[in-house]
Amino acid sequence: MKILVTGGAGFIGSAVIRLAVQRGLSVVNVDALTYAACLENVASVADDPLYAFEKADIRDRAALQRIFAEHRPDAVMHLAAESHVDRSIDGPSDFIDTNIGGTFNMLEASRRYWEDMGRPEGFRFHHISTDEVFGSLGKEGLFTESTGYDPRSPYSASKAASDHLVRAWHETYGLPVVVTNCSNNYGPYHFPEKLVPVVILNALAGKSIPVYGKGENVRDWLYVEDHADALLLVLQKGTSGRSYNVGGENERRNIDLVRTICELLDRKRPKAEGTYADQITFVTDRPGHDMRYAIDPSRISDELGWRPSVSVEEGLEKTVQWYLDNENWWRALQNRKGVGERLGTKP
Ligand SMILES: NC(=O)c1ccc[n+]([C@@H]2O[C@H](COP(=O)([O-])OP(=O)(O)OC[C@H]3O[C@@H](n4cnc5c(N)ncnc54)[C@H](O)[C@@H]3O)[C@@H](O)[C@H]2O)c1
Repeated sequence: MKILVTGGAGFIGSAVIRLAVQRGLSVVNVDALTYAACLENVASVADDPLYAFEKADIRDRAALQRIFAEHRPDAVMHLAAESHVDRSIDGPSDFIDTNIGGTFNMLEASRRYWEDMGRPEGFRFHHISTDEVFGSLGKEGLFTESTGYDPRSPYSASKAASDHLVRAWHETYGLPVVVTNCSNNYGPYHFPEKLVPVVILNALAGKSIPVYGKGENVRDWLYVEDHADALLLVLQKGTSGRSYNVGGENERRNIDLVRTICELLDRKRPKAEGTYADQITFVTDRPGHDMRYAIDPSRISDELGWRPSVSVEEGLEKTVQWYLDNENWWRALQNRKGVGERLGTKP
């Protein structure tokens, strides 16, 4: 099986590619190499005959058509996106162009290619989306696949729009699609502007560790390698036209997650004096900050037998250790534009 993966030089796409190649699947990585990309993430498979790389922007339809014609994939996993909520507040236009316009191009290029091949039923367009499209939960309840869409940030609105396009291409043109909506990922190769790496790296640098608002926002944390496993399962076993929610059943308040990371660092790299938690600083909240996300993963678990393999404690332990062992990787990314700055404060 040959899979065309978009966004494979990013955090989750690279985890999918490493796992796919390890399982003997062929992969074509299509990535524009934006500020969030790092080819180092796929260095372990770069010389493998199962792997190919195409530097291309999903906003460029002609480039996509050439790539489909040359590589002739059996399936598409579409992960390329602008992914940082804070950046979407300061500059929504790239989010609209890539997440909506780019997905439209991917759908059209896939549809033309699939029609030219005689509309094979086994073809899949797998759209990777987020639980943020469902909006914010109160203290109770879980997102299911039938929860209504209620996005509240430019990022989540652009992802919601792309989900709707994917469904429309299935209903209208018959394109075989699957959609997954997953919760917050964390793990190795997470770009250093996202919460978990920010906490680890600011702690190690002796800087303040910023926690938005009172740190009471709840997220359902999913280890990225468990997510990659779920994605390959949905691609290969999921029913066309269906969506699957993917979550770790690991709800944590942000402040508790941050404290756990500080404790892990206290154990693994103790400070000369005091604890890393002393560096925690509460900062102005993000405008429109959703209070709680939590996934009901019954469908993917009952229908496809998927379960996360690690608890959040185990996953965070592995993640903290990975950042301690891979300083060269994250140091190189800290010079990129906007990294280390507070973004998205202006409503
Ligand atoms: N990180 C999470 O917690 C999370 C949770 C749920 C869903 N998702 C979704 O998963 C997908 C991957 O997320 P991530 O965290 O790995 O993102 P990321 O920001 O780490 O990586 C995105 C990748 O897409 C590429 N890209 C961006 N614009 C492009 C364009 N116009 N053309 C081609 N390539 C382009 C970038 O170069 C980068 O390599 C996204 O669609 C995101 O919405 C992420």
